[in-house]
Order: sequence, then structure tokens, then C-alpha cells
Amino acid sequence: MSLLFSSYYDLDVYKQFFEAVEKRKDFFGKNIIDYGCGNGIITCYLAMMLPDRVLCGVDVSENAIRIANILKDKLKLKNVGFYNSDNIPDFKYDTLVSVRTFHENISTLWTNASYYSFEKQLKTNSSLYDQYIKQLSNLLNPTGNLIAFERGKQMHFVEISESCKRNGINPILQECEFHKCIEASEERDLFLLCASKSVETYSYDQLIGFIYEEYPYGYSGAYAEFILEKIKGLLIDAFISVDDKETICGIHALYNNAADYSKFILFQKNKLNCTTQIFDKLEDMDEAEELMKESRKNDQLSGFKLFDTNSDYQLQTLIEYLNKTDKQ
Ligand SMILES: C[S@@+](CC[C@H](N)C(=O)[O-])C[C@H]1O[C@@H](n2cnc3c(N)ncnc32)[C@H](O)[C@@H]1O
Repeated sequence: MSLLFSSYYDLDVYKQFFEAVEKRKDFFGKNIIDYGCGNGIITCYLAMMLPDRVLCGVDVSENAIRIANILKDKLKLKNVGFYNSDNIPDFKYDTLVSVRTFHENISTLWTNASYYSFEKQLKTNSSLYDQYIKQLSNLLNPTGNLIAFERGKQMHFVEISESCKRNGINPILQECEFHKCIEASEERDLFLLCASKSVETYSYDQLIGFIYEEYPYGYSGAYAEFILEKIKGLLIDAFISVDDKETICGIHALYNNAADYSKFILFQKNKLNCTTQIFDKLEDMDEAEELMKESRKNDQLSGFKLFDTNSDYQLQTLIEYLNKTDKQ
């Protein structure tokens, strides 16, 4: 039942993952561990695809391991073994495979994680990511590789990549990809992360550049502020809109980019939305200014009072002052 259900539910995920693997066969070393292997479909398929490698599938669920062993026997595979996670062979692997396991394993470490806002998760979760990724890193030999296909969008990718980097498994950005997969008739974002202990690491700007190429319209939601903090340079123009109780109803700010002055960053936040848009050419500056003008007009039409500023210090002081009055 589990295998049948999985083959329907996960079909597109498996298909996209194996297409990616097909192009990266050289990435896999001799001894491979599939961490969080579930019913073993991926492990067994890899064992067939890479007959000269040795596969080890590991899962916390005894039932999953039981089913994986049935599959292995049916397929008469000699180069694969399945183990419960508290019984992993004491060995350093060349390659660690992880498919859709990060979200689950990290939240097992902190069961409440998903109930917090992303901002809060970001601040408090980094150490959980590190705790989990350190565990994975310890399973790899000093030149080992990681190939992970995980649920999530760009911010999850940033968080995982940064944690891998902190723990000595450096993402190879040119091998990473963002995917859209159908899981049980729902479209989901997944990303392929390829990383290695034996390569040079990337810079933060390269990471932002890589994500920007995939998501050129910028960032929305709570991570818009996170990205802004990482890339903003000097403030060019900003205004805050407040209602008649002096409660902040909008923050709009145009910055240049700290690393590349020909890029501009437009940050806009109101009670419903938060976005960080990146304009990557000097010519696009007009478009960014036009958007600021439009927002000024809209906020005035909403009856808000506007406070203009072109200095980051003034902007921060003003926000703090208005936040304080709001609380009194
Ligand atoms: C969403 S399933 C993915 C299964 C498989 N990789 C796939 O993509 O078909 C996540 C798997 O991670 C396993 N898992 C959760 N926590 C784990 C842990 N701490 N150690 C090993 N496996 C774990 C679960 O039992 C489950 O089988």
C-alpha cells in the first residue's frame, strides 16, 4: 500500500529528482547514505542507476525500513542495505542523499517551529539547522558530498545553504536548482542543493545573485526584511505613512545595493504585505522611483500623514519614535 500510494503521490518529485541525478552521476561517491529513506524507493532506484556504488538507506521509522527491505528483496538488489537510524553502520560516507527530510527532521528537534512566524523561526531556528546539519556532516568523510532535494522556497534554501556552509559542506551554486513539483495534485516548490566538503565556499553576494536570477521579482513575506538587511547600502529616499493615531501604516524605502551601486532595492511594507524588489540596472532606477511616487499618492489618498526622509538614521529614529507612541 505504502509503495503504491507513494508511486502515485510522489511521482513528479521522483521524476524530477532522478532527472537531476542522471545529469550528476559523477557527483556520487562509492558509499552512499540515503538519510530519511522512507519506503526505500529512492534508495533502490539509486542502487539500480548506480550499480557500482553501495547504498545504505536509513530511517527512524521501523515500518519504513521493513517496507524498504521488501522492495529490495523484490528487486533482488545486492548493493543496498536498510537500517534504523539508531543502528547506522559506523562509517564515513562519500555521499549523503536527502529527499524531503530537512523540514521534518529539523522540526522534530523543535516541535513548535512551524507555529512561529518565519522571522522568529529564522532567528531561533539557525541553531536547530546547525544541530541537524552537523549530524549529517559527521556521517560524511572529509571530502564527502551532499545532494538534497527539499521542500521550500528561496529563504529555506538560504537558511539550509548557510547552515551547510557553517558546518563545512559548501553548496556548489552552479549545481543547485529550484523546482516546481506536483505532490498529490498540488504544486510545491522544491530545491536541489548540491554541496561538498572539498570545494571552496561562495560569498553571500554570489548566493543572493544566484537566488535573484531564479526570483528576479524579489522577495515577499517576512524574509523580505531579512534579504534587505543583507544587501542594502545607503538609503536614497524613504517615507513612513501614519494614520491619525500615529500608528505606522507603511514603510517605503529605496536603497542602493551595498556590493553593486548600479543595483537598487525597493522595500515596501504595509499591514498586509512586505516586499523587497531588486532593480539590477541603473536605467531601472526610474521605475523604482515611479513606484515610490505611486505609493506616496496611494497612501495620501488613504488619508495617511507622510514623513519623508533620506537618511537611514532618521528613518530608524522615526520608526522607533512612532512605535513608542503607538504603544503608549
Ligand atoms: C517525507 S519522508 C521522505 C521519504 C523519502 N526520502 C522520499 O522522499 O520518498 C521523510 C522521512 O524522514 C524520516 N525521518 C524523520 N526524522 C528522522 C530522523 N531523525 N532520522 C532518520 N529519518 C527520519 C521519516 O520517517 C520519513 O520516512
